[in-house]
Order: sequence, then structure tokens, then C-alpha cells
Amino acid sequence: MNGNLILVSIFLIFLLLTTSFKVNANPGWSDCSFNAIYAPIMDATFFGPDPIGPVGTTLQVNVTQSLSKPTTTFTKLLIEFTDVDAIPICYTRHPLDTNKDNIKDTFLAVVPQFLPNKYLIRVMVIEAGTGDIRNCILFHRP
Ligand SMILES: *[C@@H]1O[C@H](CO)[C@@H](O)[C@H](O)[C@H]1NC(C)=O
Repeated sequence: MNGNLILVSIFLIFLLLTTSFKVNANPGWSDCSFNAIYAPIMDATFFGPDPIGPVGTTLQVNVTQSLSKPTTTFTKLLIEFTDVDAIPICYTRHPLDTNKDNIKDTFLAVVPQFLPNKYLIRVMVIEAGTGDIRNCILFHRP
């Protein structure tokens, strides 16, 4: 390989890495491997208010997600509060329009009681029939 080709290859690899790992989300996110869920991370997940409001207040979660397979009647958007060991505290499950190849919507959840000092907010796109997790992102809080 000559020098130019090597440079071009390096540039292409860089481009590939930066575009495929681009995540848009509130700070303090991670993929869900922390919970032993090895699904691809969500494209864009922004919630507010952050820090969340008091018990009983509404959390707004904006999701933009492209999907490799269109949504079915079983595809759901899940917003969960769990402790750091992924023990669920509360979840909200939203249906999605069927036969869509992307999600771009605002979803609501209510701040639950009995949140531990440290907790996780997990947002996932799941296939409720099979239990497949299509995409997932974790927010470590506070
Ligand atoms: C979510 O989207 C709505 C509508 O576009 C916007 O008004 C709101 O500020 C967004 N919230 C967050 C947390 O990004």
C-alpha cells in the first residue's frame, strides 16, 4: 500500500467508527452491558427534567430511533427505573405505531416512589412477543 491509500483507509475507518458509535443522549449514559443486556445502543434519547422531578411528576423522554426491522404490534418502548442491580422499581410500556422503520416521539413516565440513592433509568425498544431487545440505553443517576 502506498502512503495515500493508508491515510485514506485510516480516514474511512475513523469515519465508520465515529458514525456508528454516535450517541445522542443526556450525559451519564452507557450501553446496557452494565445490566448484561448486549443490545445496540439507542440512536438518540433525551429526557427532562434532568435531574428528575419529585415523586409523581412527569418525565418526558424524547426518542429518535431508526429500526432495522419495521415495528410490529409487539414492538414497545419501555421506560424503566431500576436499582443498580437492575431490579425493577417501576416501568412504563408504550405501544408504537406498527410497520414503521423509525421512532421519533415523546414518551412519558412518572417518577416513582422509593427510588434508591443510586438508580438507573433504562430506555429500550423491545419486541414483547419474543422478549428481544432491539435497542437499549442506561442513564446512571444521580
Ligand atoms: C422533547 O421534545 C419536545 C417537542 O419537540 C420539546 O419541547 C422538549 O423540550 C423535548 N424535551 C427534551 C428533554 O429534550
